Formats: sequence, C-alpha cells, structure tokens
Amino acid sequence: MANNYPIGLFDSGIGGISIYNEMKNSLPTESTIYIADNLNAPYGKKTEKEIIQLSIKNTQKLIDLGCKLVVVACNTATTNAIEVLRKNFNLPIVGIEPSIKPAMLESKTNNIGVLATEKTLSSNLFQKTSNTFSNGVNIHEQIGYDLVNIIEENGINEKLLNLKLNGYIQPMLKYNIDHLVLGCTHYYFLKDILRTILPCEVKILDSSRAVIKRVQTLLEIYDLKTNISKANNMFYFTGNGLVISDFLTNEDKISKITI
Ligand code: DGL
Repeated sequence: MANNYPIGLFDSGIGGISIYNEMKNSLPTESTIYIADNLNAPYGKKTEKEIIQLSIKNTQKLIDLGCKLVVVACNTATTNAIEVLRKNFNLPIVGIEPSIKPAMLESKTNNIGVLATEKTLSSNLFQKTSNTFSNGVNIHEQIGYDLVNIIEENGINEKLLNLKLNGYIQPMLKYNIDHLVLGCTHYYFLKDILRTILPCEVKILDSSRAVIKRVQTLLEIYDLKTNISKANNMFYFTGNGLVISDFLTNEDKISKITI
C-alpha cells in the first residue's frame, strides 16, 4: 500500500531539517527519508542547470527508495528546479518558497527584507512572485553570503554568524523594514541570533508551516495518508556527517549515501 510508504525530503544539507522537524510535530506517524546532499552544498552558488541536475538525482533517489511524495526542502532547488521536477516525475511534489506574499500583505511600513541565496533571488520564480504581489511594497533583497557554508561546516557558530548577519541586516533596517523573510531553510536555525539583531517589532517569517500544510492537503487529495501508528525515519547525507547529528535527535537513524 503506497499509503505507508515514506515522505521524501531533500536539501543541500541540514537546512531542510527545519521542515523535517515541523513534519515530525504535525504528522508524527508519517515515515520519512531525508537526503542532505552536503557533498554538493551550497546549491546557491551553482548554475541553474547544475541545481536542476542535482534536484533530479535527489528526487530519483527518493523515488527509488520508495517515497510516495517528495518535499523539496530547499528554496534554491524549488525556485530553480521545481517546474522541471514536476514535468519529469509522476508523484506529488511540494516545494518551499520565501513567504514574501504574506509579508507584503501585512507590511505597514511598505518595506520588507528578504534574506536568501544568490540563486533563489535571481530565479525567475522568485522574481515573478515579487512582481505579482509587490503592490507598492519595496522588497530589500540581501544574499546571505557564506551563511550556508558556515552552518554546514561549523554548525551554529554564534560569533561568526552574528558578525555576518549584522552586516546583512543593518542596511535593511535603514529602510524601516517591518518583516524579514527567511528565503533559505538553513536560515531557520539563525532565528535566535536574528532576534538579537532585529528590533522586536520586525517580524521574522519562514515558510516551514506552509510547506507542511501543503503536504497535509496533498496527502488528503491523493489519499496517501498513512495508517500505521509508528513512523520510521531515515536520514542520509552525501558528504561529511560531522555536524549533522547536532541538529537531529538520538532516535534519528543516520547514514552516508552515494547518489
Ligand atoms: N537550504 C537551501 C535553501 O533553502 C540552501 C541552499 C544552498 O545550499 O545554498 O536555499
């Protein structure tokens, strides 16, 4: 029965664990297989063609491992590759995009900030969404240079990340932003540091809940909800496994994989 097959997730590394954690909270009986393609991280510096090729490989692997639905737990892969994935694969695919629409609708100062990778900000999908909903709201975009590398190599190194983030956020604050949209799943883990930099009236938005809601909807539509009571979760990585366990619990099974 496909219902009891796992949900697959992939990211360039540990960023998608933010989605994985939300999924475990909201859908605790759904089994999962996660691929952290950290051998190829960061995706944000690759060409669109490379991001598409890697996304196809990861999706194919998750399908070969028996997944019933795939979550692209990476904004960079979603904004550059999701259309190709949906054309190539015949199963429900959920992506993640920066939550700029709610930020623009809620903004009182008519200024919002977006922190994302280079390839997310330059993608056609991101540009299209920004233009569709902008409606007089200014979007202050900032590339989060080096953030993914630092997190992948050192975990949450507060001193280093604080320094980098201050450099990225202070210029946005001059524009009186009232929302900061996190456009990369890795940045979810920077919320505590960001909170110390941002004035309390600036709201931080990430898209992980929206992704889980979409997964729930698709499980209903395709009649794919599991009927087993205990989930089986497997976490694979393609490169270095050093910092991964810091982001997972003892219950998570972790293993290296070649794709
Ligand atoms: N977590 C990925 C994202 O959401 C990181 C991209 C990267 O590897 O640069 O975009």
